[in-house]
Amino acid sequence: MPATLNQTNPAHTTDEQPAWVEAGKAWSRHALDWAYRFESYGNDAIESIFGRLGIGPDTDLLDMACGSGLAATRAARLGATVAGLDASDALINIAQRRTPNADFVVGDMFELPWDGYSFDVVTSFNGIWGGCDAALAEAHRVLRPGGSVGLTFWGRGSNLDMRDWFFALGMSAPSVGEELIATSSIGTPGVVEEMLAITGFTNIERWDVSAILEFADEDDAWKAFRSPGVVAPALDALGENELRSRLMPTVEHLRAADGSYRIVNELTCVTATVRK
Ligand SMILES: C[S@@+](CC[C@H](N)C(=O)[O-])C[C@H]1O[C@@H](n2cnc3c(N)ncnc32)[C@H](O)[C@@H]1O
Repeated sequence: MPATLNQTNPAHTTDEQPAWVEAGKAWSRHALDWAYRFESYGNDAIESIFGRLGIGPDTDLLDMACGSGLAATRAARLGATVAGLDASDALINIAQRRTPNADFVVGDMFELPWDGYSFDVVTSFNGIWGGCDAALAEAHRVLRPGGSVGLTFWGRGSNLDMRDWFFALGMSAPSVGEELIATSSIGTPGVVEEMLAITGFTNIERWDVSAILEFADEDDAWKAFRSPGVVAPALDALGENELRSRLMPTVEHLRAADGSYRIVNELTCVTATVRK
């Protein structure tokens, strides 16, 4: 089990570090590129889930695996009282700068440092994946009766402009391929529904939105693409130039005549509630 996303097995540790610490290091490596080049992919999904869940001044909200805090910022602007947790200290620093009044914590989503019944809403945008049942159980524990969870993850439909990119990344190193297969299992219809139902959630709803990535040029796109933690072992295995030469051709057909890119991926949204 690779130590990049490290979300599929909370008990996993490397010889040196707990898995979530390794994950945090991988995600911290190119934190600025994630925050300013990639994170905006979530805009439409955040708006859609927050609208569906009625986020507002009466909401106590926790964003799990909050990254650099785009969702937390949006929730705070809607008047919610916001907390966020992520394994990456570099991403949490950016999140805290953006939303100074929110309660941000560097930590493990499999062991949340909040008491039970602390929140009305728990969200996780591309933070809870296949095999992350224990993180979902933590979300359930900290939610109040009647509270809601909102999740997103990459869909498995045909509307995935980065399909070949994911495939090429998975081929770059065996550990990366194994991790992508394990985590993306959540996109298979029925999987997240079963994870939620087993954990005790009800009223499960699922829909898709578009996640749009736009880059001015190839350098801009590459810096975004190398920023997710899951890419870190591929960078280590192949080096930056070789990995770039394998990944960038997979999106060449999405490049306009002026050299810019517009990349659209289907993002699946799911909401569910805790039984009262
Ligand atoms: C795909 S990013 C999503 C970040 C943010 N939610 C967003 O949409 O921009 C996954 C995030 O999960 C975090 N992460 C990975 N494993 C974690 C763990 N065990 N506990 C907490 N955060 C974790 C990473 O640091 C990273 O910020």
